[in-house]
Amino acid sequence: MSRSAHPAGPRHADVLPEGHYAAPPADLNQLDARVWSRTVTRSDEGVVSVGGIDVATLAERFGTPAYFLDEDDFRARCRAWREAFGEDADVFYAGKAFLCRAVVRWLHEEGLNLDVCSEGELATALAAGMPAERIALHGNNKSGREIERAVSTGVGRIVLDSFQEIVRVAHIAQRLGKRQKVQIRVTVGVEAHTHEFIATAHEDQKFGIPLAGGQAAEAVRRALKLDGLDLIGVHSHIGSQIFDTSGFEVAAHRVVGLLKEVRDEHGVELPEIDLGGGLGIAYTPEDDPREPQDIAKALREIVHRECEVAGLAVPRLSVEPGRAIVGPTAFTLYEVGTVKELPGLRTYVSVDGGMSDNIRTALYDAEYSVSLVSRSSTAEPMVSRVVGKHCESGDIVVRDAFLPADLAPGDLIAVPATGAYCRSMASNYNHALRPPVVAVRGGEAREIVRRETEEDLLRLDVG
Ligand SMILES: Cc1ncc(COP(=O)(O)O)c(C=O)c1O
Repeated sequence: MSRSAHPAGPRHADVLPEGHYAAPPADLNQLDARVWSRTVTRSDEGVVSVGGIDVATLAERFGTPAYFLDEDDFRARCRAWREAFGEDADVFYAGKAFLCRAVVRWLHEEGLNLDVCSEGELATALAAGMPAERIALHGNNKSGREIERAVSTGVGRIVLDSFQEIVRVAHIAQRLGKRQKVQIRVTVGVEAHTHEFIATAHEDQKFGIPLAGGQAAEAVRRALKLDGLDLIGVHSHIGSQIFDTSGFEVAAHRVVGLLKEVRDEHGVELPEIDLGGGLGIAYTPEDDPREPQDIAKALREIVHRECEVAGLAVPRLSVEPGRAIVGPTAFTLYEVGTVKELPGLRTYVSVDGGMSDNIRTALYDAEYSVSLVSRSSTAEPMVSRVVGKHCESGDIVVRDAFLPADLAPGDLIAVPATGAYCRSMASNYNHALRPPVVAVRGGEAREIVRRETEEDLLRLDVG
């Protein structure tokens, strides 16, 4: 359909969405498989289902807003990563993307390890039975308590992030009569092609110890001297939502360069390297993520080649995908509350959630797509912005989208690819009750994180 055929064309023609849609999709009733999880289907009447249950039933049973997580898809992604990297590598799921006990159990069953970055995440992992030796602890300012808990429970590795922490972890381990396996997180000076707030390997930022100026080499020197530490390797995480592996290539080159320096200076070959997470997913149909097997192949080849050149034995490789596993597996279901047309501008569609369940758009201009999922429509596409119900004009869920012009209060719309960094970054802003996460599989649905209640809110209020 041409834009001029749009009844609202003249009004909306001035405002081409700034985001990913240069033109409306050919058919708003079609779901683009790239952004939806694998069991999502749409009936002839336009009603979307996941895991064999339709959204009307899910909304009736669990309310809106709510995150619906496709468990089969989650497990399949875990297996794909595990199989792609094989027996001589480890896949650590990054729990910050989304963590709860059910997820920990799935990871355990599917043979993945777990990266945690706080005492809360560690507690969740342990409570759900993840063996401590399969857990890695991250963080740029771990508290003494966090370190002590990690060391005493026997986590597989602590990733050291500063000179102070090298000493801190060594002292705590010694006091507990342990020798803690550690890696040193280095910043390799790569400019990842992603948003500034999710790029983590350029030097001017808070994570890691720079390779530049010999700081990382000095960190290794210090760690090797301390009795409480067993330095097993070097870690690099270059950022998030990255689509091309060239940044990883540079990172691997520089990390292996450090291993060579260490071998030459200390006569020690560190046995492991971790190249972090950060692989991108499709938030909109324009995103073109790579499959785990391609990524694994590329990373392995880089590491093998670099080690061969450096004359080093190939270290055990690990990676830490978070978003790439859980991101595509969930969508957020909202009910439309108001539809406000601003002539000459766009139509604002207000939903019953917002920045409290998805802060990513406000935080770093994340792009999403959105679809009407409770019925089909033959109405023209309208230039829309999906906004929440919070007291901020920046409370935007989907900045630029086309939705059918007959959209009305009571319709259900869904934003796909909200499995990562949505519930885990959710807030109680405006005393919003954080939505549940509902796992759907084989015609059954169950809350794996329940909806918050007023009692939950008031329980914290002790005045
Ligand atoms: C050290 C580390 N590993 C892994 C991840 C996971 O990144 P992603 O979810 O983009 O794969 C992060 C994200 O911030 C991280 O900081």
